[in-house]
Amino acid sequence: MNNSAWDLTQYDALSFWDFCITQFSKAIDSAKHPFHIANVSTVTSNGSPQTRSVVLRQFNETTREFTFHTDLRSPKIKDLQHCKNLCLHWYDSLARVQIRLNALATTHNQNERAKQAWHDSRDSSLACYGTPNPPGAHMDQFPPAPLIPKADDPKGFSQFVVVACHFEELEILTLHATGHQRVSLSVKHDPVSWSIIAP
Ligand SMILES: Cc1cc2nc3c(=O)[nH]c(=O)nc-3n(C[C@H](O)[C@H](O)[C@H](O)COP(=O)(O)O)c2cc1C
Repeated sequence: MNNSAWDLTQYDALSFWDFCITQFSKAIDSAKHPFHIANVSTVTSNGSPQTRSVVLRQFNETTREFTFHTDLRSPKIKDLQHCKNLCLHWYDSLARVQIRLNALATTHNQNERAKQAWHDSRDSSLACYGTPNPPGAHMDQFPPAPLIPKADDPKGFSQFVVVACHFEELEILTLHATGHQRVSLSVKHDPVSWSIIAP
């Protein structure tokens, strides 16, 4: 994606949201898209921030929601039990675009939504959830690649979590030699609106 597509002077709030919808939808479908991986920050119970990369699994423009998958035993789940607020962040170095948004997380484990996502996922992705050692456990040596779970093995599924991230506002910064552009795009109500802010 070249930088000129991110020249915000060619959009109004609605056409820019449409452009973002297209980009996020492509990001879900293609591992090569710069937004396929997001940086997700949570707040730990002692109040310090913690950031990690995750693969985006779904984007729903109607409910204003991203989802990613994780392990019930991972520290980020403990963070979300303590504080449901998280921050998603992306930077596309070719397009020179930063996007960040605050979201409210809902976790889905052993329910219909988790079941659907489990069935829609590749075996190689599901293998991560049945590991004997929880994410973050200290070990004597590097573990082998996890085995693909058997179709009737309930262990992986019991540790599989869909994290749904609902957002109402996005902040976009695009870098240009002619002047950087930064907006806050509110998608809480239809029609969406934006305000220009100092970069
Ligand atoms: C490219 C990439 C993609 C990743 N995708 C995920 C993911 O979708 N879900 C996940 O739980 N961890 C994912 N990880 C691992 C996390 O970044 C992190 O190391 C792990 O989940 C432990 O995080 P926590 O200790 O903060 O819970 C990914 C790591 C990389 C480098």
